[in-house]
Amino acid sequence: MRSLIDILELSVEEIDELISLAEDIIAHPEKYRDSCRYKKLATLFFEPSTRTRLSFEAAMYELGGNVLSMASAGSSSAAKGESVADTAKTVSCYADIIAMRHPKEGAPMVAAMNASIPVINAGDGGHNHPTQTLADLLTIWREKGRFTGLTIGLCGDLKFGRTVHSLISALARYNGNKFVLISPVELKLPSYVKKDVLQKNQISYTQTTDLEAALPELDILYMTRVQRERFFNEEDYLRLKDSYILTPEKLNKAKKDLAILHPLPRVNEISVGVDADPRAVYFKQVLNGKYMRMALILKLLEVEV
Ligand code: CP
Repeated sequence: MRSLIDILELSVEEIDELISLAEDIIAHPEKYRDSCRYKKLATLFFEPSTRTRLSFEAAMYELGGNVLSMASAGSSSAAKGESVADTAKTVSCYADIIAMRHPKEGAPMVAAMNASIPVINAGDGGHNHPTQTLADLLTIWREKGRFTGLTIGLCGDLKFGRTVHSLISALARYNGNKFVLISPVELKLPSYVKKDVLQKNQISYTQTTDLEAALPELDILYMTRVQRERFFNEEDYLRLKDSYILTPEKLNKAKKDLAILHPLPRVNEISVGVDADPRAVYFKQVLNGKYMRMALILKLLEVEV
């Protein structure tokens, strides 16, 4: 039995297999309609979510399965002090697979160590968000047709943005990629990611505060919001929240085949005027997330179609 806590638990070959499976689901959805019949997914979300939770639930329904979920973290027995470990043991009695989001880094790992069913990390604090990375990878694959030789700009809150940490880990395994890390000084990529992922693997990267100067060389621009919920004081958040606002005018300097991604939700960092630009693929990315979560559920439940 396998869980997914960190994107690096999937080999490059397994990522390829998941992408092929997702492409087949997109092309032949009817083949998969009953593949999880009588199976139940429990969504345990201790933090707000729109995309991750609903796409997991939609994924399970489209595979013919069912969903168990809590109305909110406050309505579960966690509010009475129940531990993550006990919650995982309990939910294992009712469901076949768990998707868990938690504000504490490592909580889904604790759940996986105590559950008797697979646990998927649906975002843990400022740490990791592996299924968002699966959505990002399918989007990059569909837009660019490769994971190699790309110049990838990551812009915004690189300190607390867990999707950025997972995506860098995933793309650092492919040859010839170069990262341009664009952030305010206070929100730079944590040194543990730089040291353990970029420097360890001798990956080329630069750091800058200047989005406009970086734009012309990028093949992919991955925008992120400033993560208000991770700040210790509101004053710092207010000062930094509008550090970057991507507009149609700024995009005049970008490549014609740039792909603009964003894990969403967006606050101000991409003006709605950008949405009509064919290079803006963040809503395609949302849909890709559902297909990759369908593929992942099939893999972890070891369902043969
Ligand atoms: N990208 C993402 O995790 O969105 P939600 O917080 O809405 O799930």
